[in-house]
Amino acid sequence: MSIIIKDETEIAKMRIAGRLAADVLDMIAPHVVVGITTNELNDICHDFIVDVQSAIPAPLNYRGFPKSICTSINHQICHGIPCDKKLKSGDIINIDITVLKDGFHGDTSMMFCVGKVAPYAQRLCEVTHESLFLGIEQIKAGATLGDIGHAIEKHAVKNRYSVVQEFCGHGIGRSFHEEPQVLHYGKAGEGLVLDAGMIITVEPMINHGKPQLKTLGDGWTTVTKDHSLSAQYEHTILVTQNGYEILTLRANER
Ligand code: MF3
Ligand code: CO
Ligand code: CO
Repeated sequence: MSIIIKDETEIAKMRIAGRLAADVLDMIAPHVVVGITTNELNDICHDFIVDVQSAIPAPLNYRGFPKSICTSINHQICHGIPCDKKLKSGDIINIDITVLKDGFHGDTSMMFCVGKVAPYAQRLCEVTHESLFLGIEQIKAGATLGDIGHAIEKHAVKNRYSVVQEFCGHGIGRSFHEEPQVLHYGKAGEGLVLDAGMIITVEPMINHGKPQLKTLGDGWTTVTKDHSLSAQYEHTILVTQNGYEILTLRANER
């Protein structure tokens, strides 16, 4: 196994897959309101991906995952399984979308605030979003994975939050998860040197409290051990000679 450098044909297909994944988040945004269940959100996304985008929701049956999207609420860090529980005012929820189109994957996630959310929870989401972009801004041929992780960790720690260590970003392409692993902490200048044509995700999970996690009995849902809030944002990114191209930008980010 090694890192796959994408050629122009593959990059063109990754642009399409990335755009579709971003479009799902834009589509679902107005539905993320008090009283809707995460199963209903799952079904709306599933139908949109299959019927409108003629694509495949990659999480469904991936290593046994039972649903088409991941929904992680409040102290859930990631890989939350949609269910019949209703969203309530004050919840923060990450929706993680991975679309498979024409043989290639696009992977992106964001936080949504439901109803009236406490300022400290909004702040956690904002800082996590800032951390993602500080990490992304490091990316160019010749930079290292440690540069990305360091920028993310520095911003989280400055705000007295912690970075989840057990999950990381990843290479992505024909496979959902490819090499390399993209850690969200580290030392500047260390680790793999990036090269043009690599495509990776950056997807920091930032906790309001301690970094430790536990996995629930469903085998998927991971939560903070101290039950503090957790937030995550994710983009799929092409490394270029002079910088990067975010393949999963949403309409309001373009
Ligand atoms: N989308 C997640 C990621 O960013 C992976 C979800 S795996 C699943 O890598 F099986 F839970 F869908
Ligand atoms: Co990912
Ligand atoms: Co994802």
